Amino acid sequence: MRSLEDFSEVEAKTAYFDGDPVIALKKGARRFTREEIAAMAAMQNMIAFPPAPKLDIQGRLNQKKATESELRGEKVFTMACASCHPAPYYTDNLAHDLQVERFYDGRAEGMIKTFALRGIKDSPPYMHDGRCLTLEDTVEFFNMIQELRLSAQQKTDLVAFMRTL
Ligand code: HEC
Repeated sequence: MRSLEDFSEVEAKTAYFDGDPVIALKKGARRFTREEIAAMAAMQNMIAFPPAPKLDIQGRLNQKKATESELRGEKVFTMACASCHPAPYYTDNLAHDLQVERFYDGRAEGMIKTFALRGIKDSPPYMHDGRCLTLEDTVEFFNMIQELRLSAQQKTDLVAFMRTL
């Protein structure tokens, strides 16, 4: 989805559930007018990220404020995660197919938009369906998806870094 207007319209009509009209109806889907959609998008545009006092104006860690672990975590993140989650908001605003069906018998999930990671510590559970309850779980998830073989220390550092965002 390209805009908050698109998002508001699609959410209102089919409200998740892969466009299943029965579940959407149960959830109370209804058509909004163009004016209502514009107003919903304007409202969402006012919502800012929470404060992140350890980040500089480019969204990178301020060396003077960060801990050793957070700084190491930023390095691992730059290597393994930043191509899809670049600073300052930690999203490329694109959709990617993570090909999760490689790892379990189930349907392919296809393209999913990269979530912004600013303020991420405050919004569990994670991923589009809440399958990861903690940031530690998301690190394990991407460790598997990308076949990274991260060490225990690298995993701890990555989580420490994400908590600063
Ligand atoms: C190929 C692009 C890509 C790479 C590389 C990538 N991510 Fe993501 N990330 C995504 C996408 C797409 C989603 C949404 C997936 C979903 O919801 O199923 C996501 C979701 C997340 C979320 C959940 C956000 C939320 O609000 O629920 C976290 C946390 C995260 N990624 C962390 C990482 C970390 C840490 C790494 C590196 C170890 C990483 N990502 C590497 C594309 C990527």
